[in-house]
Amino acid sequence: MESPFKSDILKGKVALLTGGGSGIGFELSTQFGKHGASVAIMGRRRSVLDSAVSALQSLGIRAVGFQGDVRKEEDAKWVVESTIQHFGKLDILVNAAAGNFLVSPEDLSPNGFRTVLDIDSVGTFTMCHEALKYLKKGGPGRDSSAGGLILNISATLHYTASWYQIHVSAAKAAVDAVTRNLALEWGSDYDIRVNGIAPGPIGDTTGMSKLAPDEISGNIKEREPLFKLGEKWDIAMAALYLASDAGKYINGTTLVVDGGLWLSRPRH
Ligand code: HXC
Repeated sequence: MESPFKSDILKGKVALLTGGGSGIGFELSTQFGKHGASVAIMGRRRSVLDSAVSALQSLGIRAVGFQGDVRKEEDAKWVVESTIQHFGKLDILVNAAAGNFLVSPEDLSPNGFRTVLDIDSVGTFTMCHEALKYLKKGGPGRDSSAGGLILNISATLHYTASWYQIHVSAAKAAVDAVTRNLALEWGSDYDIRVNGIAPGPIGDTTGMSKLAPDEISGNIKEREPLFKLGEKWDIAMAALYLASDAGKYINGTTLVVDGGLWLSRPRH
């Protein structure tokens, strides 16, 4: 689908996206690139990174891939610094890397719980922490008029409660807290905006195929009248809005992009 935004709204910006080589993260990389940004993507799998980078470059996007795991502080540091070396500055950090699987609490080991928190929550904080000196107003390569932007990909699971998702619910609740607290503290001290996006069920993603294998069929419309699959494009358009000047007064919010689904109640 054609973007409703002008193709230069992120012109001259440099974005680093964790998990930017696949799923929602890759769509964000693509749309940021199509709207003028240079794009660095971070991921664990070399082959995924390589094919993502060539796909981006074939669209005329300036793109580079850095292999790393957000759970490792040294990887986070190296990737942020490599981005600076490659593109000269950093304007936008997107934390899209996430881990997930369906499991009941009784079958989930504490290490399994910790693993998802390590990726989603601690990984998000670590990346923000490493990126701070480059994102802050007047940081290397930046002008002194404004700070950069952080965008954290969250979820809506923890607004209520979700079966077999205790670890992810806890992890995304922490991500939202990181969003709000950094928005307050780094917004005030460094002029950095920190926002999130909470996608609903998005078609053609690992999350969807892993998390809702059967639930899409059957009587889901009865139970969740607002149920409608979103597209990765929907998330990317929300991200463009938040990342562009259109979002310049938005700080500390997590924008729900789910067609209203989390409000759903059965009709009877
Ligand atoms: C139960 C599991 C498990 C599973 C891992 N563990 N998979 N427990 N069921 N299916 C437990 C392990 O037993 C282990 O605990 C601990 O977690 C660490 O497992 P490892 O395999 O050593 O970890 P690792 O190789 O680092 O893999 C972690 C991973 C990750 C979370 C499984 O590789 C992963 O999920 N990758 C896919 C990424 C992904 O799905 N992205 C899309 C996210 S969608 P023990 O105690 O045995 O040592 C998304 C949407 C959320 O986030 C919102 C939806 C609405």
